[in-house]
Amino acid sequence: MDGQQEGPRQGKAPAAADVETDFTARLARLPASRLTGTLGPLVAVLSGLIRDLRLSPAEFRATLDYLTEVGHYSDARRQEWVLLADALGLSALVEDLATPRPASATPNTVAGPFYRPDAPERANGTTISLDGKGVPLQVSGRVTALDGSPVAAAMVEVWQASGQGRYENQEPDHQPENNLRGRFRADGQGRFAFASVMPGGYALPSDGPVGRLMAALGLCLERPAHIHFRVSAPGHERLTTQIFDRAHPAIGRDAVFGVKSELLADFRAVPSPGGQERRALDVTLVLCPQRQG
Ligand code: BEZ
Ligand code: FE
Repeated sequence: MDGQQEGPRQGKAPAAADVETDFTARLARLPASRLTGTLGPLVAVLSGLIRDLRLSPAEFRATLDYLTEVGHYSDARRQEWVLLADALGLSALVEDLATPRPASATPNTVAGPFYRPDAPERANGTTISLDGKGVPLQVSGRVTALDGSPVAAAMVEVWQASGQGRYENQEPDHQPENNLRGRFRADGQGRFAFASVMPGGYALPSDGPVGRLMAALGLCLERPAHIHFRVSAPGHERLTTQIFDRAHPAIGRDAVFGVKSELLADFRAVPSPGGQERRALDVTLVLCPQRQG
């Protein structure tokens, strides 16, 4: 052994128990932490998958090339990784696990990439459609606690796409700043109201690796028409959710798995003096009490 590094047992070949045969065995020798406790199962699941699928070196390389491309498509303006997690249903799963709610509470959904925390406060009853383009929609809402009692003075943030399915921050040259978004203070009875236009459904970007994957599977990246709400009130958990147009054709195939039966609503037709199309939506948003700790 002269001139050689000493092994774990001085001067002898290492015993079988000292040889680390795979990464999980190596991790098992480290102090336990959330990192080792997360990475261990992840590598174990991936190793099992590689074994079960008998993944070839070429397939493994193609997988790594695909993930590299997802990274190359991501920058400050576009997050292809988030899109991949959304399209695989992983973001919705994380959100569901993070915000378990009683059945009577309005379910949470992801906020999505178009939320702006700086939308202006508007007076109850006023419009969020600054360009007036689209089919008029009147929204009347109520914020309640689990027992149905009103939550007074809740702050209700809303944001939605135009009739063409585009958010204001996606096309700053075509829509006024803060078009179709705003925040409203509910009254003493938890009521709020605003005017808007019918939101359009839209498709998530399909020109990158996520779009290619979905096309290869014959799946689309459509989202059914919806309005986003975020409700904050002292003593209650913040609710971030979306209310979907039950009649939208893409309702059964939301690309990001945000649709839940409790979030379907009728954007009902209402008569108008001139006979033009008008719609109305009534929405009740039920909050959970703040969890302790
Ligand atoms: C949205 O509804 O704005 C959205 C949510 C998740 C991913 C992409 C968009
Ligand atoms: Fe949206």
